[in-house]
Amino acid sequence: MDSEESDVETESNRINHFSPNKSDSMVVKSVSKNYGKFQAVRNISFGVKRGECFGVLGENGAGKTTMFKMITGSEDLTSGDILVNGNSVQKDIRTIYHDIGYCPQFDGLIDHLTGRETLKIVSRIRGINENIIDEQIDALSRLLFFEKHIDQQISGYSGGTKRKLSFAISIVGNPLIAFLDEPTTGVDPVSRRCLWNAIHMVREAGSSLVLTSHSMEECEALCNRLIIMVHGRITCLGSPMHLKQKYGAGYIVHIKLKHPIVEKSIRKLDRFMRIKFPECYLDSIHNNMIVYKIQTNQIKLSQLFGSIERSKDSLFIEDYSICQTSLERIFLSFVRKEKK
Ligand SMILES: Nc1ncnc2c1ncn2[C@@H]1O[C@H](COP(=O)(O)OP(=O)(O)OP(=O)(O)O)[C@@H](O)[C@H]1O
Ligand SMILES: [Mg+2]
Repeated sequence: MDSEESDVETESNRINHFSPNKSDSMVVKSVSKNYGKFQAVRNISFGVKRGECFGVLGENGAGKTTMFKMITGSEDLTSGDILVNGNSVQKDIRTIYHDIGYCPQFDGLIDHLTGRETLKIVSRIRGINENIIDEQIDALSRLLFFEKHIDQQISGYSGGTKRKLSFAISIVGNPLIAFLDEPTTGVDPVSRRCLWNAIHMVREAGSSLVLTSHSMEECEALCNRLIIMVHGRITCLGSPMHLKQKYGAGYIVHIKLKHPIVEKSIRKLDRFMRIKFPECYLDSIHNNMIVYKIQTNQIKLSQLFGSIERSKDSLFIEDYSICQTSLERIFLSFVRKEKK
């Protein structure tokens, strides 16, 4: 088995060969979706544990929204099954509606209602005590910074405010599991942080969340596990840290040499880097800025930092910075690999 696939296989075995685990709010079992001859989702299996924030990354058209639509009953499954709290979406979708919240990619709001009226309807469906509904709506709208619009008609809402309302609908009353399809797309950076706080709060209250996003930063900040989908398949699965350790191609080191730059100091630095870090290569030189890439996971950041720091003066280094491979690079490498 390819080690890249082993995490995906392990999860698939856990889901398909063992009886449903009570620690999972939802399990997706060997699910596929065909649109005619086109397969949008290809035999995917994973579980979302209670209280976890599970991220789904993938390029446009990877199959993320299709998967959410199947889970929430707006698209049929071609094969496989999805269980939410032990109930099958194929047999018990009405029961499941009580357990889930859904923030669709494109807001499906009723324009002539106000935000409060909309949230009241959803709160009643979720069985929230009538006496505390208004209180909860006020608290949510304050938390998400749209309290001044809460009693206005949705038809007058801006795109970002509609997004906030859709998000509020999906989490009001802390459902067992909420599906958030690009909840922060089109939301300003300050409000985005408010949405992140709200996500932390619903998690702490015990809800599970499944989130799609095109922001790697967002997935790193919020998700404890994530998958990368390419062409309807899961290509890797794990915590952001695990993925970075497993697939991270090491470090990027930016070194700024003291003026004046002489050929000799570049050669000296190069010799030092190659001896200390045999896996490194010179990526670019611009004036006095030299960039090295080190393609290994075997060196610790502290080791790298210590070596350069100790030789800083003898190598005529004015300043330097070291960064680890980002989740974004891992994402790009998976997408490129699948496209080859
Ligand atoms: N009703 C449909 N009929 C035919 N093909 C569809 C239908 N809905 C989706 N698809 C196709 O299925 C694939 C997956 O689409 P989906 O909307 O799930 O992607 P996505 O990962 O959510 O992308 P994005 O990041 O752009 O939202 C795409 O190729 C899309 O064209
Ligand atoms: Mg989508």
